[in-house]
Amino acid sequence: MKRIAICPGSFDPVTLGHIDVITRSAKLYDEVIVGVSNNPRKQCLFTLPERIDLLTGALSHLNNVNIDSFDKLLVDFCAEHHAHAVVKGLRAVSDFEYEFMMAQMNRKLDPGVETVFIMASPEFAYLSSSAVREIAEYGGDVSGLVTPNVQARLAARLQGERGR
Ligand code: PNS
Repeated sequence: MKRIAICPGSFDPVTLGHIDVITRSAKLYDEVIVGVSNNPRKQCLFTLPERIDLLTGALSHLNNVNIDSFDKLLVDFCAEHHAHAVVKGLRAVSDFEYEFMMAQMNRKLDPGVETVFIMASPEFAYLSSSAVREIAEYGGDVSGLVTPNVQARLAARLQGERGR
């Protein structure tokens, strides 16, 4: 049986921390599907196609990783893809409470889906998409936090917004 895992998130935008967790997941599973949340109630800086495009560029070197979007329960997305694991990165104790709640809720919804946590690499333990967006919004340096492609797209997007 093929071991398939889902790495879910908003990826607004993808960071080096996400890439680290996805790369390490790809070594543990036959196939990893990056599930990009398409939640219309969540305001994102990048549109869904943009977020997918940035992920595609960042993950093209991983041949057992695919990308798909979802606007449904994560456990239903798992069932659709015959995935029995959800892999999430854990950065600090502060992540734990929320992730624990989500894992328990998903377990209640579908006990056949196991949530697996990968500890963030120390160099990315403080990294989040929201911090990257805020640093970029104030003109700070995000190199070392995202890929050069994401850095360029952030600069272009925020320059466009300032021009409006
Ligand atoms: O990167 P994010 O925004 O922290 O990702 C959150 C995400 C998409 C993983 C989470 O909101 C999610 O799983 N959404 C799908 C809806 C769902 O299944 N909710 C679980 C019931 S508690």
